[in-house]
Amino acid sequence: MSVEIREDISVIPLGRGIGAQIDGVNLREPVSEAIRAAILSAWMDHKVLRFRGQQGMSTQQLVNFSKIFGELDRAPTPANKTGKPYLSEFPTVTAISNIVVNGEPIGGLGAYEAEWHTDMSYNECTPSASILYAIEIPPAGGDTWFCDMYAAYDSLPADLKSRIAELKCVHDASRNSAGMLRKGWKEVTDPRETIGALHPIVRTHPVTGRKALFLGRRLNAYIPGLSLEDSESLLDTLWANAVLPEATWVQQWRIGDVVIWDNRCTMHRRDSFDPAARRLLHRTQIAGDRPF
Ligand code: SIN
Repeated sequence: MSVEIREDISVIPLGRGIGAQIDGVNLREPVSEAIRAAILSAWMDHKVLRFRGQQGMSTQQLVNFSKIFGELDRAPTPANKTGKPYLSEFPTVTAISNIVVNGEPIGGLGAYEAEWHTDMSYNECTPSASILYAIEIPPAGGDTWFCDMYAAYDSLPADLKSRIAELKCVHDASRNSAGMLRKGWKEVTDPRETIGALHPIVRTHPVTGRKALFLGRRLNAYIPGLSLEDSESLLDTLWANAVLPEATWVQQWRIGDVVIWDNRCTMHRRDSFDPAARRLLHRTQIAGDRPF
């Protein structure tokens, strides 16, 4: 593991091509333009960055830090009974939590496993990044896994690359990443009727220019122009190649961790954990472009 010093910060690679820890920066205070540039360049190189020891960060400080990566997207509609945002005073921040107060969850996703996905890929313009800040963490479980979608694309055989070069896929908007139906949405019974944005299966990263596999989520995905059977079979093949063990990194959370990932070239999933334990993270998402 080689530590790089960029400006005053250290960049410590954590995984094999994905994941790095940044030391030497206090995210509760404004960062200089030079540090911002160093963070952005480390992020492009490592796809997922972790900053430890940021306990006590206020929600406004999380918003301020998030803005160094771009304009913020509104938080997604929660899959709860009311559909109301979890942090009404901060429309760009959502809570991920299993904690229930007065009978109401204070965040989304409960204690369930969340399957591999890319955040909000069912929108026409998809967030470039998501940021999680850990406030309460269970003693075990709830780890978040990241996989490298450049590596997934690069690993495909040439004939499969040319088969998918011009294909698009519909990304289901009806369910959250724990598979729960959002308020007001109908159950999808036939993927050909899935509602959600249509995106290229191979996208080009607008900053690095590299190609990445862009699958979003498996449930109810559909490739228009193919029969349902062919679409299912091609998607299954792509998903079987999407998560390469050698291009995967797992984040084991500590209170005060802040993690940012690039939704344009990674997917993530979360392990389940004991529902009796408490887990609370706040999340922001950075607005992005229409994938091309
Ligand atoms: C998410 O899928 O955005 C949440 C990940 C997590 O809870 O660690």
